[in-house]
Amino acid sequence: MKNIQLDITKAAQFLGTDAIAAYESKVKAAQEALENGTCPGSDFLGWLHLPSSITSEFLAELNSTAQILRENCEVVVVAGIGGSYLGARMVIEALSNSFQWLLNDKKNPVILFAGNNIGEDYLSEMCSYLSDKKFGVINISKSGTTTETALAFRLLKKQCEEQRGKEMARKVIVAVTDARKGAARTTADKEGYKSFVIPDNVGGRFSVLTPVGLLPIAVAGFDIEKLVAGAVDMEKATALQVPFMENPSAVYAACRNALYAQGKKIEILVNYQPKLHYLNEWWKQLFGESEGKDHKGIFPAAVDFTTDLHSMGQWIQEGERTIFETVVSIEKPNHEVLFPTDEENLDGLNFLAGKRVDEVNKMAELGTQLAHVDGGVPNIRLSVPVLDEYYIGQMIYFFEKACGISGNLLGVNAFNQPGVEAYKKNMFALLNKPGYEKESEAIRARLNK
Ligand code: PA5
Repeated sequence: MKNIQLDITKAAQFLGTDAIAAYESKVKAAQEALENGTCPGSDFLGWLHLPSSITSEFLAELNSTAQILRENCEVVVVAGIGGSYLGARMVIEALSNSFQWLLNDKKNPVILFAGNNIGEDYLSEMCSYLSDKKFGVINISKSGTTTETALAFRLLKKQCEEQRGKEMARKVIVAVTDARKGAARTTADKEGYKSFVIPDNVGGRFSVLTPVGLLPIAVAGFDIEKLVAGAVDMEKATALQVPFMENPSAVYAACRNALYAQGKKIEILVNYQPKLHYLNEWWKQLFGESEGKDHKGIFPAAVDFTTDLHSMGQWIQEGERTIFETVVSIEKPNHEVLFPTDEENLDGLNFLAGKRVDEVNKMAELGTQLAHVDGGVPNIRLSVPVLDEYYIGQMIYFFEKACGISGNLLGVNAFNQPGVEAYKKNMFALLNKPGYEKESEAIRARLNK
């Protein structure tokens, strides 16, 4: 089977000759540090050989739990934030009908996401939508203590028990959390929920191929075997022994670091398919949380084209020249729509009659690439044969591996996120959380100054 293809020619032309090749030894060292567990954050390298370690028995267990939820629920709410939801949402949205919401086809439960914000209106509107639905919940939190998720789960658990009874609630609430610690584990054990473990050595943003992503994806009706098969093939395609220029993750990591070294501080991930909006979100978290440290790191931004060509397009074409783009291009859409002929041709579009919509999209993509390159924006292109489970699996591992290598090239610990704690400490102090008395006093004194 063909793999996803990386093309860096329209980025390399902005770099000196051999600029990418000059990274070969550094990339090799970064890869060896990952393989040997000698890089910073080496306690969190469980993702590195995760795809090839997933057994068919484990996938069968996930599928059988998914089946219980599918049989007993019209709606399944996935409660989680950051790495505990973005991967599942990315895959489900990429593979679902764009109008899944309105289809009401009863073949698959509607999947909702909660616990990723603290919007009171969001929670209120969701609870009211659920009030006449047979719903279940997948509660996902590695720490088991994340406020956003715990808050949503408390509301959902109560409503599910009231609406469906304690016994059914026990059947349709599943926990994905740590093996031993955290409130989500305590609750799951006490209530007797089916639960899956997030391995200690896999961090949130690298966890889509654990039950964190695989269970919701299976509940949504997608083929997790195919997803994992794609990731396994990309694990092989990016292995240490693969020559540097043939390893897409290595070349991508080298290229983006070479551009960064030349002042290209912002990378914009671009897609031309609305279904890939959450690929953008997942990718932003993967690279942002991994690399933005020690006052360094490429800022990961993202746009949906052609939609955003009518908003951010101006900035990208003519704004500050500190950006480069990485375009994810889907070669072949899953459906075919031809432009009809119109005798009157009032809209002047007969020159497109008989053409596929995707041909227009592809010309928009090519035209944009040429314009942006002319405007001084280096372009990297990732070509994906088709949007299905297999190729999304390839993309997941491709980006994870590139991120691991890239973080090492940058000299940061790509696997922690100490900066995320600062807001939590202040929020807990302001909310008078027990144990935060000293911080509460300090923050109030500061605010009253
Ligand atoms: O990548 C990460 O580690 C984070 O984004 C976490 O996934 C996020 O903060 C949620 O944490 P938890 O799963 O502990 O609720």
